[in-house]
Amino acid sequence: MAKTRTLIVAGEAFPLAKTGGLGDAITGMARALSEARVPLTVMLPAYRGVTAKLKRVHTVATLTDMPGGDASLLAGTCPQSGLDYLLVQNDALYDRAGIYADESGAEHPDNGTRYAALAHAAVRVAAGLPGVLRPTLVHAHDWHAGLVPLLLRAARLHDVKSVMTIHNLAFQGLFPMECADLYGVPDWARNDDGAQAWGKLNFLKAGIRYADRVTTVSHTYSREIMTPAFGCGLDELLRSRAGDLLPIPNGIDDVLWNPARDPYLRSHRYSVRDLANKAYCKAALQREFGLRPDLGATLMAMGNRLTEQKMVDVAVQALPEALDRHPGLQIAILGQGDHRLEQALLEIVDRYPGRCAAHIGYDEGIAHRLHAGADILLHASRFEPFGLTPLYAMRYGALPIGSRVGGMADTIEDPGPRAPLSAMASANGLLFDGDAPQAMSAAIERAVNLRGHHLLWRIMQRNAMTADFGWRSAVGLYASLYRSLVEPESANAPAAPAGQQVGRGAVARLPRSGGAMPATI
Ligand code: ADP
Ligand code: GLC
Repeated sequence: MAKTRTLIVAGEAFPLAKTGGLGDAITGMARALSEARVPLTVMLPAYRGVTAKLKRVHTVATLTDMPGGDASLLAGTCPQSGLDYLLVQNDALYDRAGIYADESGAEHPDNGTRYAALAHAAVRVAAGLPGVLRPTLVHAHDWHAGLVPLLLRAARLHDVKSVMTIHNLAFQGLFPMECADLYGVPDWARNDDGAQAWGKLNFLKAGIRYADRVTTVSHTYSREIMTPAFGCGLDELLRSRAGDLLPIPNGIDDVLWNPARDPYLRSHRYSVRDLANKAYCKAALQREFGLRPDLGATLMAMGNRLTEQKMVDVAVQALPEALDRHPGLQIAILGQGDHRLEQALLEIVDRYPGRCAAHIGYDEGIAHRLHAGADILLHASRFEPFGLTPLYAMRYGALPIGSRVGGMADTIEDPGPRAPLSAMASANGLLFDGDAPQAMSAAIERAVNLRGHHLLWRIMQRNAMTADFGWRSAVGLYASLYRSLVEPESANAPAAPAGQQVGRGAVARLPRSGGAMPATI
């Protein structure tokens, strides 16, 4: 077997630092790969409090001439995940409240420097540091690590391969081109064929442009991002790299998200074989949120970032109508984000006391109890690269209403409103199209009506709770991708590139970016 050693570089990893699904995905993927004996280390910034969460922390190197000043490289192990970490410590950059933004939600003004420093640290490790194992491959995630593939090429480290995974194309990391010197971006990349877009330095574009392979987290999203509607301005570049773009769907951590073992449910754990305790979880959730105690109510949860990506602006229009139309409907909302949307939801809460309640904030325990107590999860998205939350809900027997985009189109099975009712026996949730409030209302209505068909609902719950969304298949695909890059001749063929699934005719004429490097590199 080919010997690969991977350095995973990311802006977050649960439980050390998490703002959303990226943190879950990094740890889930790294743990699953590690359990399959794929050697790896995860690199993160040493945000406030992170070092204290690791054991056996020690300094392995001092990194000088870095963006933002000298940094220490610390090594340690996470007791919960068992993963080995390298932390980039520069307190002036990372020891502050909030990962990407401060407590008021304002982005840190020096984020460009903070994540340029992370990328430089990864490249120093790739170049070789005494006492630190040198990786054969760096796996960069999202814009936070986007400069890594470019800097590897700038350092002429051609023996260290790079994979860029896109978890969310909407966040690209755009900074003034005047910062290119500070970030150590070479002259040859400061143009539209390189790391520039819209006159700015674009970290994610740099990653997509210069990585050996690009992956994204679901089949549908891998096709969507090559279209203008979902490509966030980078669809042409992505089409040009179609032959190197692979969809590798995420999984979920089915140990952490398991109603039979979940410590957040205390004595009310349950499983697909015996759902009796789910009723206790529902009563507890109604108490926790101040909803009217009523086990007969249909309790619909919403637990996500309160943003337009998650169609909260549409929900603000659709929820009052749903509450008016269905007197037995209750809504529990957990989330934080756009203050305007938070405010609009709180106004609905005021209008429907005892029937609609919200917890504005971020709380891991409530997120677990929300799925355990709910009958339905509303998870609407204008785009959803993968969508872990609906799969967590499914594990807990809360059936998701999702949008037919990205990962949700791949994971939620719904024969649709026009199929005979009996066809829903193969469903594990509901899907709707577009972002019209009427479409969302109609989907809520369908779910409420379906819940009235008790046996059918139970079958759908069983489908949802027993579906296998673990990391196993992703592990095989990543391991084979790593091997194919590091020792091409010894590897199995990796997964089919995304371009092959959309028909490659349209993209075959575009140049492959890997072949267009300037001769100076
Ligand atoms: P995204 O990463 O786009 O937000 P995902 O559904 O893939 O979407 O992942 C979201 C993750 O963030 C889930 O683990 C979810 O439970 C968590 N999450 C989102 N908002 C909150 C919140 N307010 N409190 C606790 N967890 C949250
Ligand atoms: C991003 C996406 C989400 C995905 C997560 C993990 O945050 O918005 O859909 O599940 O990353 O890949």
